[in-house]
Amino acid sequence: MGLSDYLFVCLIGALPGPLSITFDNANFQLLPINKNKCRHIDPVRDISFQLFTRHNPLMPSTLRIGDDEALAQSHFNFSEPTIFFFHAFFESSQAIPATYIRTAFTQRADHNVILLNAPRLEAGPWYLTASQNTRVVGQYAARFIDYLVSRGLYLPSLHLTGLSLGAQMAGVCGQNVKSGRVRRITGLDPAGPLFNKWPKSLKLDASDAEFVDIIHSDAGIFGYPRQIGHADFWPNRGLAPQPGCNFKEIKMRNPDAIVELLFCSHWRSYQFFAESVLNPNGFWAVNCNNWKDFEKGICNEHNSIVTRMGLYVDERARGNFYLRTNPESPYSLT
Ligand SMILES: *[C@@H]1O[C@H](CO)[C@@H](O)[C@H](O)[C@H]1NC(C)=O
Repeated sequence: MGLSDYLFVCLIGALPGPLSITFDNANFQLLPINKNKCRHIDPVRDISFQLFTRHNPLMPSTLRIGDDEALAQSHFNFSEPTIFFFHAFFESSQAIPATYIRTAFTQRADHNVILLNAPRLEAGPWYLTASQNTRVVGQYAARFIDYLVSRGLYLPSLHLTGLSLGAQMAGVCGQNVKSGRVRRITGLDPAGPLFNKWPKSLKLDASDAEFVDIIHSDAGIFGYPRQIGHADFWPNRGLAPQPGCNFKEIKMRNPDAIVELLFCSHWRSYQFFAESVLNPNGFWAVNCNNWKDFEKGICNEHNSIVTRMGLYVDERARGNFYLRTNPESPYSLT
């Protein structure tokens, strides 16, 4: 890719942007939109915030920084908690993970659900650019949250979640909110490649919110390899292949599932979380030093701290937690 290509992206900054197509729910784009090369990410074009509530579970209201009218006309209810979801690489607010999260919370009917939408900045196959853009997106989302706070959002009622690159965005967002400290961030298999070596200011860690919980499901491949939260959950050891995700099992369910073969284990993180939203008694996990001790039964509900993975985690939980799941939905054993 030569300089002229980037120049081209810059020049069309005010226009719709480089050609992109959606295939199998994934966004591909002819060229990356990159802040370093181009300086000009146009947030109004490239980043939006989609609000869903029980009154509009399917059709979002688009919220923007400074757009008081859109906020007033929406069903945003400042008396209810707000869940914020940052989508992953290749995705948008309409992709399957965001849809699972939205559906789970609108079924509960007690949350404002805000889905970040930045498909052009997270488009494939530009992983390097998408990873670098998590910083811009996280910072912009922080400004949006400060805007909501200025209009009446009670900051402790806000919970940030994100999948893969989205988890890293949530971390950057938490660090950059100026109106106070974010209460909770849930990282769903935070992205590992590149971030592994990058400084804290570019990624999620325990300093980004009062409580950071992590669900690891593909550690060391697409997921971050190490403990980074206050409470880190390692369902089925946190590694690929997760139960139900080996080659034979996927082929049996769907012989054409190429994408699922790659991401099945990585995706378990958001599937577990979405299921936890509707199951207050699910996903019991045990505090333990490592998977081996857990497997041997050395750590159990009689001698170790037990909490639930997912929405109903005890926010006083600290350390590593282990559990098993079913190979298919419902994943929780209880
Ligand atoms: C806002 O949420 C509160 C608490 O759930 C509820 O009592 C109230 O009726 C809601 N307001 C609207 C306009 O839905």
